[in-house]
Amino acid sequence: IFAAVEMAPRDPILGLNEAFNADARTTKVNLGVGVYFDDNGKIPLLAAVKAAEETRVKAGLPRGYQPIEGNPAYNSAVQQLLLGKDSALIANGQVITAQALGGTGALKIGADYLKRLNPDAKVYISDPSWENHRALFESAGFVVENYPYYDAATRGVNFDGMKACLKGLNAGSIIVLHACCHNPTGADLNDAQWGEVVAICQERGLVPFLDMAYQGFADGIDADAVAVRAFSASGLQFFASSSFSKNFSLYGERVGALSIVTAGKDESARVLSQVKRVIRTNYSNPPTHGGALVAGVLASAELRAQWEAELAGMRDRIRAMRTGLVDAIKATGCAQDFSFVAQQRGMFSYTGLSAAQVEVMREEFGIYAVSTGRICLAALNTKNLDYVAKAIAAVIKA
Ligand code: LMR
Repeated sequence: IFAAVEMAPRDPILGLNEAFNADARTTKVNLGVGVYFDDNGKIPLLAAVKAAEETRVKAGLPRGYQPIEGNPAYNSAVQQLLLGKDSALIANGQVITAQALGGTGALKIGADYLKRLNPDAKVYISDPSWENHRALFESAGFVVENYPYYDAATRGVNFDGMKACLKGLNAGSIIVLHACCHNPTGADLNDAQWGEVVAICQERGLVPFLDMAYQGFADGIDADAVAVRAFSASGLQFFASSSFSKNFSLYGERVGALSIVTAGKDESARVLSQVKRVIRTNYSNPPTHGGALVAGVLASAELRAQWEAELAGMRDRIRAMRTGLVDAIKATGCAQDFSFVAQQRGMFSYTGLSAAQVEVMREEFGIYAVSTGRICLAALNTKNLDYVAKAIAAVIKA
């Protein structure tokens, strides 16, 4: 039965981990996948998470099934992070949240549900977008197209192009938006631009799906929720996926959530009942541990404050690596100006390196990056910074 099976291509991001792990060079650096490492190159176990975990382990709880939509305390905490603790939408019962297997799991549950709700809609993702957005919505059965986003000349957003495209879309089109820390470009919309996008979604009857994978990695929890809050103030219905892989450093625990804003309480009950059917036929109900840790941290004022301080620490270290890389590349005598790296937001830099240059970095220096030229700044540290800067300068000169 498998004789004719062809080899599938490696995943453009996670496939790099496989190649990196197989590389024997001790100087190798993995700037491919979006994972935060500390200055010693280790994935941190946050102290707030560790404390919540100790409490949980001590309690010696049984391992029953969770509700299909997951842990209610977790789901309610997720809503507050997204919409603010005083959100009228939450108070009105207009928000449903289902715990999901990471941000990817949340997107997939949302995509499968949207396919049942509106099977003929097209999905629009930014050009470029996270490599998995297209594959994920296509695997849910949608035709996926791009809306203009990145302007390589200004290294910012081609906002006129984006607006013109969105204004021409059919009602019911699903538009996937990066809520903050755009992956891969690091170029975000400003507050006024978000207001314009909300207005276009309203005028055109579009279905917004906000992907929030890096809340707290640009400016802070509330500041990074500006897009979600703009949509929530508009009266529109919309979808939002949350990931806690990065901001809680809980990658392998697969902690995420799908939230949907509806027109009212009764609608919420009906929508949740349908989302539960999607979940039940995918994985039945989500795992307990990771969600309980996040809920535990967010339920304690002390642990929450500790978590926000640790998150600020990660954010500050990434910023220091951004300016450090700019300076280190400059110090090599490289003629090209990389100061844009310090302006980009989140974990990534869209370096402008070509696929061929990325390949030379990997072959000659053992430095792994996504072929689009995306590098993860959160994997730089004070020990590998100069090595990476020299490699970038060398491949540019070649
Ligand atoms: C990334 O973009 O590297 C991360 O979101 C990890 C992933 O799942 O691709």
